[in-house]
Order: sequence, then C-alpha cells, then structure tokens
Amino acid sequence: MIDRKILLAEKDLPQRWYNIAPDLKTPLSPPLHPATHKPLGPEDLAPIFPMALIAQEMTMDPWVEIPNEVMEILKIWRPTPLVRALSLEKALNTKAHIYYKNESVSPAGSHKPNTAVAQVYYNKQEGVKRIATETGAGQWGSALSFACKLFDLECQVYMVRVSFDQKPYRKLLIQSWGGKIDPSPSTITKYGRAVLAKTPQSTGSLGIAISEAIEDTVGREDTKYSLGSVLNHVMLHQTVIGLEAIEQLKSIGEKNPDVIIGCVGGGSNFAGLAFPFLKDKLKGKTNPKVIAVEPMACPTLTKGLFEYDFGDTAGMTPLVLMYTLGHDFIPPGIHAGGLRYHGMAPIVSNLVKDKVVEARAYHQTDCFKSALLFAQTEGILPAPETSHAIHAAIEEAKHAKEGQVIIFNLSGHGHFDLSSYDAYLSNKLEDYEYPMEKIKEALKAVPKI
Ligand SMILES: Cc1ncc(COP(=O)(O)O)c(C=O)c1O
Repeated sequence: MIDRKILLAEKDLPQRWYNIAPDLKTPLSPPLHPATHKPLGPEDLAPIFPMALIAQEMTMDPWVEIPNEVMEILKIWRPTPLVRALSLEKALNTKAHIYYKNESVSPAGSHKPNTAVAQVYYNKQEGVKRIATETGAGQWGSALSFACKLFDLECQVYMVRVSFDQKPYRKLLIQSWGGKIDPSPSTITKYGRAVLAKTPQSTGSLGIAISEAIEDTVGREDTKYSLGSVLNHVMLHQTVIGLEAIEQLKSIGEKNPDVIIGCVGGGSNFAGLAFPFLKDKLKGKTNPKVIAVEPMACPTLTKGLFEYDFGDTAGMTPLVLMYTLGHDFIPPGIHAGGLRYHGMAPIVSNLVKDKVVEARAYHQTDCFKSALLFAQTEGILPAPETSHAIHAAIEEAKHAKEGQVIIFNLSGHGHFDLSSYDAYLSNKLEDYEYPMEKIKEALKAVPKI
C-alpha cells in the first residue's frame, strides 16, 4: 500500500528559515532609492518596515531562526501534508509519482499566513499598532487580517477593484478577522482619487493598491506597511514549505524530485517550495527541472524586461532589479487575481535570468480544465492561481519517464473563487494573450538606470 498523506509531527516543524541569497550564482543587486537612484540603506526603509524585517531583507546569513511565538502560531496548521496524487496519476495513466504540498489547509486557505504571522510578530515587537497592505485576490489580505487579530494590531486592506467585485466572500473573511477593507482605487488616498479622476471605471491593479497602502503608511505615525510577496524576507518566511517537503520525501524513501513546480504572482509560494531544493542544485549536487508558471495575460517572466523598476504604480517604492512589464501595466481582469502583478521577486528573477529556473506561461482556460480534473480526482477545488501549477504538473506528467518524481505547490483552495468556476463552467471565460505592442508601450515607463 502506498500512503497518500505524508505527515510530519509538530515537533518536526523547521526551526529555521533558509535564505537562498548567499547561494545565488549572481549576487543580488541592491534596491535603489526611488528619487536619487542611489543604493538604499536600512534607514531609507525604516518609515515603512520594522527594523527586524529590514535586516532580514538584507541578510546574507544562510539560516534565520524562527521565533518561538511565530512557531507556536504556525502549529495551528503546520506542518502541512505532502500528498501523493494517486488518483490524478491514475486518471493521467502517468508513470510519474506526483506529489503536492497542501498549503490550502491554513486558516486563510493558502500559503500566505506563513509570512503574515512572522511579519505581524516583528511589527508588534517594535510597537507598531496598525498595518496597511494591498491584496489582489484577497488571500493576502485575509492572511494579514488573521495574523493582526492574533497579535492585536489593526489591519487596513486595499483590495484590487476587480477582485473586490468578483470575490465578495474574501471581503467578509477579512472583516470577520477584524480587518478594514476598501476597494482600490479608493477615495481614501490622494493617489486613489487621482486614478479615479482619470479612469472612473478603473479595475485597479496590485501596483495601484500598493501605492495606496504606502501612502496610507507614510501619512501615519502608528502604521507600517506589509507586503505579501516579492520581497526577500517574504521568500524567506515561505521556505518552511520546501524544508518540510524535503523531510517528508525522505521519510518515505522517495528520491529527490525531478521536477519542482509553483505558480508565480510575486513569487512567494514558488520560492517557498523550490528554494530549499535549489540549495543542492546551486551547489551542483542535483539537477531538477524547476518551473515557475504564470498566466499568458500577465507574462512577467516570459515577456518582461530584466530591469530596475518600481514595485508600485505611483513610483513610491524602491527600485528593484527584476523582470517587469512596466509599473503602469494594468493587466486584464483574469480570475487568477494573485497572478496579476507587473513585477516579480528579485530573487526569482535572478534565478530565471541565470537559467536555474525555467519560466512558462499558460492560458487560463487550460488551467481551469486541469483544475477541474484535479478536483474530480484528488477532491480539492484549487484557487485559480494554483491551477497554473497543476496544469504544468499535468503537462509534465504526460511525458514522464517511469518513476519520475514531480512535486508542485498547492498554494491555495478555491472556495472563495467559485464565481470564476461559474464563469468557466458557463463558457464565459476568455483567454487573453497580452499583445506585444501593449507590453512594449508599458515598458516605456521603466526608468532608465
Ligand atoms: C492561492 C494563491 N497562490 C498564488 C498566489 C501568487 O502569489 P505568490 O507568487 O506570492 O505566491 C496567490 C496570491 O494572491 C494566491 O492567493
């Protein structure tokens, strides 16, 4: 008998996060000041982040201790199960062994609380009373709202308008945990009002929502800003996923994975699973195929430029070296809201640039088709973002050799994304390939450094 679920005990939760920065082939380039274009020092970031997170953002220590208080909260849902997708394997008649790391078991239903809890903990340590953030599909906003409640901080969420309208239940989840939520562009901030004056029907974007959250933060003494992806410290906090997966595969005597897959919006769930495995790949000890999957409608890694750009639309964030579609790129309102971001984590970008990681883009209808096959075999209805990873895993499994090991990150469930399944099932979902001319237009906004 083959076990479906490979479980770790709570005492086996990793004690440290893995920092990939010192192991990269090419060292990371420093973030630059948005106005002066000079490399940033910790004091430049102090108005928006607590010092402990700024230190993690820049650290070259290979391992960072997980504080006990964070560990105790992670234990509410961690370690998460690693699952052998036996029913999916059977349906595909594949020779591969397919595993998925089930991050959908967290309170918010995704990997996002792994970093939300850590970020709120460090803010609380430094006396912060309120946190402002943006959210795309609502997963990050709900994770942060949950974490803020546990540490008794206020939480203000700016949610991208298109998702705010498509996913009303995410809003209720955020409110249930005590968070305050407004659609972005909002009338609360100067920047939101300016966007609405120019485009009253704006569907919003993560870039606009980030600008609003930062404006909110710098305007108040009691508030710091928190980002759910992209930054180095977020990637760091997510590595519990891959560290657990390595132990889980070892515990059943399974070989190292041949293929490692994650969907990418800003890069954090992909990083969380892949980075601990990449440690050996970067040392030349293993050579798995590592795939970052994005939507054709927002093809940051596959069609973007590798340049310094702003993380937000208004140009308030530091400039970081990453793949970008241009900071004023407004992606079409596809249903994988968490994958509609113009940029990408600098570390993930670095790994793609150095060809350690392969990038791939798929159309949303192909992904939904694979998501339903997954739901009808393994039982879990995945988030639209996650369906991109599932589709890649299925494509890989179709051509796999005997015993090939494929692992992907099941970054979240889709229970609050049912309107997107409604659109798919009633044939209302359209594929959209972002035209090259429009990408070229958006790329003109990338600053010349
Ligand atoms: C379920 C799920 N998966 C993936 C993502 C993409 O984010 P990231 O690339 O940071 O993992 C999101 C973002 O909202 C999400 O909600």
